[in-house]
Amino acid sequence: MFDAERAAAPDVCAGAAVPEVPDYLERVYWWAYLRPASIRIFDRAPVVSAILWGQYRRLSNMALARIAPGERVLQLACVYGDLSERIARQIGPSGTLDIVDVAPIQITNVRAKLAGYDRVRATVADAATLRVDQFDCVLSFFLLHELPDPLKRQVVDAALAAVAPGGRAVFVDYARPARWHPMRPVMAAVFTTLEPFAAAMWRTPIAALASRPQDFVWSRASHFAGLYQVVVAGRSGA
Ligand SMILES: C[S@@+](CC[C@H](N)C(=O)[O-])C[C@H]1O[C@@H](n2cnc3c(N)ncnc32)[C@H](O)[C@@H]1O
Repeated sequence: MFDAERAAAPDVCAGAAVPEVPDYLERVYWWAYLRPASIRIFDRAPVVSAILWGQYRRLSNMALARIAPGERVLQLACVYGDLSERIARQIGPSGTLDIVDVAPIQITNVRAKLAGYDRVRATVADAATLRVDQFDCVLSFFLLHELPDPLKRQVVDAALAAVAPGGRAVFVDYARPARWHPMRPVMAAVFTTLEPFAAAMWRTPIAALASRPQDFVWSRASHFAGLYQVVVAGRSGA
């Protein structure tokens, strides 16, 4: 992990107070993210792959395809699996990767996972209140569906605001699957029982969560018969 050498990198939480763990996270997702056992159980490749019905590799490849060597990347929230490590490799020796997460235990975990990479910085911060604007790529990988609806909007706006001219925000998340999708009733049941904020992803396009969608060029790829979406919002160059 580096710090001092990265004079050019923006400080993702300059001047901001270290946030409290939000109520929704403690109430709804404590079992997934906030206990040492959560990390021991879930931060394993077979578990991550199973949760995404075998699509983790394809979806992370789709995100990685949007990141070029040498870029300044901001990852909103830690993710289980090896995506962050693959981003750190992809940006190479001249890129930077900033990871923010509101849960200190997740930041401790990702720092341990990426200890060998000296152009990675992990910071406790709330993705909804970031005030930065200098990143070539801002990635939100399965974060939005875990946020209460007003926070989805704040995080999308913060992600877009963090994109430098010529850069892009990449959102990988759930979407409404085809009617015939065999996983559709299963996911509906999962959302009802475990993920109360996720069903909104079936109703609301990600671009519609932005306050000023017209400032970006949007593209959307649907994956796995619609259950997943990869949305890219590009800001035109300077
Ligand atoms: C990226 S999401 C889901 C990722 C997906 N389930 C996975 O692990 O691949 C999970 C992370 O989001 C973090 N998180 C939730 N709300 C956040 C917020 N407002 N700001 C930053 N991180 C947040 C949680 O602490 C957790 O580490």
